[in-house]
Amino acid sequence: MQQEIGEFFGVLIIVLYVLTVLNFLVKWINKKYGPSMKTNEKGYALYKGFMRFIIKNHKLFGLLTIIFLLTHFFIQFNTYGISITGLVAAGILILQILLGIYGAKAKKKGKTWLIIHRSIAVILFITILIHLI
Ligand code: HEM
Ligand code: HEM
Repeated sequence: MQQEIGEFFGVLIIVLYVLTVLNFLVKWINKKYGPSMKTNEKGYALYKGFMRFIIKNHKLFGLLTIIFLLTHFFIQFNTYGISITGLVAAGILILQILLGIYGAKAKKKGKTWLIIHRSIAVILFITILIHLI
């Protein structure tokens, strides 16, 4: 039972990760396919609603990962002990959250900040994959 709960919270971190990364994907899709999507007025209105939801809640999704990460960590640590790959993924995730908070607060964050925040999202993906295999 404890194994399943630990696993469940690991999966929740991944679900939230996907929701945060959608912030990039929904904008990219809108830029690339927005003009052709507009031909279907109702469908596009639906898409825009979804896009707004993802963008508006990005910070919330990012911050919520901390709760699931801590829960996953405590359960897994008590069941199995330390996991190096898990700790590496967690380190990158925390770095990403701190960078996100900095970017959200900074008045002039510039393009470099966004490039770093996007790159860490990719690195985080790789470290999570390594943790899963
Ligand atoms: C970004 C952070 C993390 C994510 C997304 C994540 C995700 C997951 C997922 C989905 C599983 C289930 C995998 C399966 O059953 O095959 C899992 C298992 C596990 N995680 Fe994490 N985890 C993270 C961080 C951590 C940390 C910090 C620890 C430190 C204790 C940890 C320890 C473990 C252990 C011991 C297992 C089960 C053993 C295994 O199946 O290899 N994880 N994790
Ligand atoms: C936890 C994992 C997180 C991941 C994987 C992540 C990922 C991303 C990605 C891929 C982008 C680029 C979107 C684009 O190209 O426009 C982005 C933008 C941004 N992120 Fe995060 N992020 C995370 C957490 C956070 C947190 C916790 C905050 C702040 C509290 C934050 C604040 C921002 C801000 C201000 C932007 C600029 C664009 C916008 O406002 O939508 N991020 N994030």
